[in-house]
Amino acid sequence: MTDTTSAASFRPRNLTRRELLSYAGITATGLAGLALTGCSDDDSSPPATPTGSSSTQAASGTTPSGSTAVPGDPGWKQPAVIASVNGVLDTKLTLVGKLVPNGSKERWAITVNGTSPGPTLLLRPGDTLRIACENKLQHSTNLHTHGLRVSPEGNADNPFIEIKAGETFNYEMKLPADHPSGLFWYHPHLHHHVAEQLFAGMFGAIVVEDAVDDLPEVAGATERLLLLHDTRDSTTEAGVSSATMMDLNEGREGPLLLVNGVAGQELSSSPGALERWRLLNASPSRFYRLKLDGHQFHVIARDGGRLAAPEVVDEMLMVPGERAEVLVQPAKEGSFALRMLPVSRGAMAAAKEATLATMKVSGAAKAPAVLPAKLATLADPGTLKVTGTREVALEMQMGGGPPRFLVSGKAFDAARIDTRVKLGTIEDWTVRNIGTMDHPFHLHIWPFRVMEQSAAGPVPAGWKDVVNVPAGGFVRIRIPFEQIGGKSVYHCHILDHEDQGMMAIIEAT
Ligand code: C2O
Ligand code: CU
Ligand code: CU
Repeated sequence: MTDTTSAASFRPRNLTRRELLSYAGITATGLAGLALTGCSDDDSSPPATPTGSSSTQAASGTTPSGSTAVPGDPGWKQPAVIASVNGVLDTKLTLVGKLVPNGSKERWAITVNGTSPGPTLLLRPGDTLRIACENKLQHSTNLHTHGLRVSPEGNADNPFIEIKAGETFNYEMKLPADHPSGLFWYHPHLHHHVAEQLFAGMFGAIVVEDAVDDLPEVAGATERLLLLHDTRDSTTEAGVSSATMMDLNEGREGPLLLVNGVAGQELSSSPGALERWRLLNASPSRFYRLKLDGHQFHVIARDGGRLAAPEVVDEMLMVPGERAEVLVQPAKEGSFALRMLPVSRGAMAAAKEATLATMKVSGAAKAPAVLPAKLATLADPGTLKVTGTREVALEMQMGGGPPRFLVSGKAFDAARIDTRVKLGTIEDWTVRNIGTMDHPFHLHIWPFRVMEQSAAGPVPAGWKDVVNVPAGGFVRIRIPFEQIGGKSVYHCHILDHEDQGMMAIIEAT
């Protein structure tokens, strides 16, 4: 039985603005005494919102490291929350490179409002998102809202923007009223510097909430974020950001394995509780094959939103950029490791097994919740009328000098439009990997369904925006180019490959 009174969702449902503001745990950012304490230890201006602000930020549940407490589990660390109010989230995100806590020591990171990961942006379908992005780094950067179905033009989710050191850029984007709920994320997208800046910790989650009373069976779940990231443990920028030839070729991986910016976290739960985890692979290159000892994952959503029905799995592969929402039901007391199992990404040595976090289950048992059997109505992609087909080749070309990273034979050129599509059409793309290393393929703005793949097993279900294309293999994806026009990109989400040219431009008109 779910207990909706103990709901631990990111914000209370069904409340008026006034009730929302007085709810313990949330304070309007525009009010005095402001909120996020993550900047208390540096001299950057506090993350106050611009005038006319209309967002709320977790406050009383906020710890000195800028995280938000999960009710019933104060030890669990996850980023502070900035929530929209009355259809608008208007906030400032300040980027600063600085030392952050790393156990009892410190490490250098690129922080967003003082922390890495940065604050979680909590939105609803139809909202307007305004971000004043203040660049206090030594280098240019920008922000991309990975997975959001918003315009890629002007000052919206435009990956061609450059925010120079010392400058502030005002983003504004509008989510359509029918935007799916789910986990999305923001990260830098300045060509040549994406891997380096993400590896240093510059990212955060974007949660688009369920419609009120959607999925009543999980309304009582303890909601958590698990943002997976890896980096290097160094107190200097050079120590974190330098890259060897092998880092560039294979995609950099770091030995420090973090969940929400913290190594070796423990989460506590109780027998019969219902846990709802939103997982993101925010690593520039690392693949995670996840397993939770003694438990199964009930996958309810992937990249682009809800699945038709839960998929019950023992383990789950997440390639860079991918998201998943899972339900977990601890049944008995004990200590259970969330493991990263060895996984190979083509010709490379499989990463060693490691424990990412530990779930401690204790306390009196209660009857487990009955999980939903049906989650959403998804159109059968087989019924979508395909109007055209294309071939895309991902290639790491060797021989004579450093390798070249290419899409369909060409390295990225910001001045060239590689693919033109007509709004309102539906295309099938066959994406082939010519080589010996896996490449996770990602398309901005327009989510797709996976129709066919060379890999064994069922194709990934639901709407996707990242799909792994295995070494020497292919995937066929079906992409409706609907609603949103403009110029954006598709690329390998091993970001060292993207930075070196495995990216191309698409324009929908
Ligand atoms: Cu996750 Cu082009 O981005
Ligand atoms: Cu993206
Ligand atoms: Cu790649």
